[in-house]
Amino acid sequence: MKQNILAIFLLCLTVCAENSNAQSELPKADANQKWWKEAIVYQIYPRSFKDSNGDGVGDLKGIISELDYIKSLGVDVVWLNPIYQSPNFDNGYDVSDYRKILPEFGTMADFDSLLNGMHRRGIKLVMDLVVNHSSNEHEWFQKSQSSRNNPYRNYYHWWNAENGKPPYRYSLFDINHDAWKYDTLTNAYYLHYFSDKQPDLNWENPKVRNEVYNIMRFWADKGIDGFRLDAFQFVAKDTTFPMFPKGFEKDFTRYYAMQGNIHGYLQQMNQQIFSKYDVMSVAEGAGNTFEDAHNLVDSNRHELNIAYAFNGVDLAKPNGYSLLQFKSIFSQWDSAFEHSGWLAVFLANHDQARMVSRFGNDLPQFRTHSSQMLSTFLLTMRGTPFYYNGDELGMTNPKFSSIHDYRDQVILDEYKHTQMTGGNVQALLKNLSFGARDNGRTPFQWDSSRNAGFTTGMSWIGINANYKTVNVAVEENDPNSCLHYFRKLVQLRKNNPTLVYGKYTLLDKANPQVYAYLREDAAGKFLILLNFSAKDAVFSSPTLSAKAKVVLANYVKTPITPITITLKNKMPLRPYEAMVIRL
Ligand code: NOJ
Ligand code: CA
Repeated sequence: MKQNILAIFLLCLTVCAENSNAQSELPKADANQKWWKEAIVYQIYPRSFKDSNGDGVGDLKGIISELDYIKSLGVDVVWLNPIYQSPNFDNGYDVSDYRKILPEFGTMADFDSLLNGMHRRGIKLVMDLVVNHSSNEHEWFQKSQSSRNNPYRNYYHWWNAENGKPPYRYSLFDINHDAWKYDTLTNAYYLHYFSDKQPDLNWENPKVRNEVYNIMRFWADKGIDGFRLDAFQFVAKDTTFPMFPKGFEKDFTRYYAMQGNIHGYLQQMNQQIFSKYDVMSVAEGAGNTFEDAHNLVDSNRHELNIAYAFNGVDLAKPNGYSLLQFKSIFSQWDSAFEHSGWLAVFLANHDQARMVSRFGNDLPQFRTHSSQMLSTFLLTMRGTPFYYNGDELGMTNPKFSSIHDYRDQVILDEYKHTQMTGGNVQALLKNLSFGARDNGRTPFQWDSSRNAGFTTGMSWIGINANYKTVNVAVEENDPNSCLHYFRKLVQLRKNNPTLVYGKYTLLDKANPQVYAYLREDAAGKFLILLNFSAKDAVFSSPTLSAKAKVVLANYVKTPITPITITLKNKMPLRPYEAMVIRL
């Protein structure tokens, strides 16, 4: 009923006129087209996607059993978090053998059938490449550690203790944030930007680089379609280890990212690997400036295809975030990359809490609309959307309340440290329930059966209590669900390259509730209206006037024939309302 009223209301609107004089400046849909620009990347966290053998851990056979589901989403690329041999201190981001599959996940034969199954369905596969560091259990490190004269010594960064304590380096994961670990065996310290179980590889050593290229060849020869380079902005180091100014850790990426000859290494990697295979390449981290990011991805530099920066995703805080800032960040990144280079657009991944809990509103009355609204944003921006599994269902943070609910070793260490140093444990738990990485790692919700259909055993991490209402089976049966809406969005982007390549223009910039923008090229023009707030809002744009068709909206059923409307300069929007309008 409400929907009909809205439809009538839309039909009755008198519109404003959009004034575009710059047709000649608009990008052409066929300029510089690439499959990885048009792709929608769906990220699968293998540990939590689907368990095939009841041991409580997701695995490759589980993913294979759900390939038709993945296909049904319409996405064309899957990014899989690490599935390599690993002691699993950091859920696979500590690799001990880059050419083996972790037995918990399956076998190489399983991997081959997974890749095959994807390719048969027209889905490409991007793998994580974790080479800023290896596991301390990798044989390179074991040899490196064994003596100062071992040929593998220079595969890592060592500082001999007779030279005194090494200049301070900040560790992101170490309890004391000390990135040097003393090793009695050779009376030396080794460097670890992450945990001491993740020693940093020495990229200044050409042998290390060749090892990495061989690993990449191994996977590219198997037919994979891309690499996501973990923490790659940190690989190059000044191995004289100069002293950094006191307090540098508050802004450590300024000192760690894009150092030394990193671009030389990437050009070499490009020449050895990326130029020889049809693979896409994406770096985690984009340095400190737009210039850094351009230096990574501008095509004339022959380095990488895509970078992803954290400014947007870092914005959400337990007490909220400012939409004005959000708009400003995404608009600035867009304009900096208007003419060259390419970026990823994302609001979640396995290192973030759930998108709807951080950027939308996970209260039952707002969850569906706000989640659909955020998906509308991700799939109508320029840049390749990196979409995290479960967000298509509107999965939320699980609201863990005890430290025993968490599995992330980094969190457990931080908790112990807070306890030991007499810190505020309750405040930490509160922050964790908003922002901890484990919030995004709870099992994928398939149906209303025990354990959400994820496992027949004991899940490795708790299942969100809302699984009986938020799951694939329930959402398949609800035409207005997040799931169905996501599929429509995917089709909309696929059918309209304008949404991939078209020029982006922010409208109603100072509106603190509404994010509104145009996407346009020679083939067409779209207006996207997103109410980011839980209150009614009004979009206004004095210069806009056009006859228009609503092609997708989260409050109204998507019409089979788009509804024709006449826009006027003020447009009311309900809480978390999203509309894609063709002008
Ligand atoms: C970034 C990965 O996404 C994260 O999960 C991991 O802990 C660190 N890099 C270290 O590899
Ligand atoms: Ca399993």
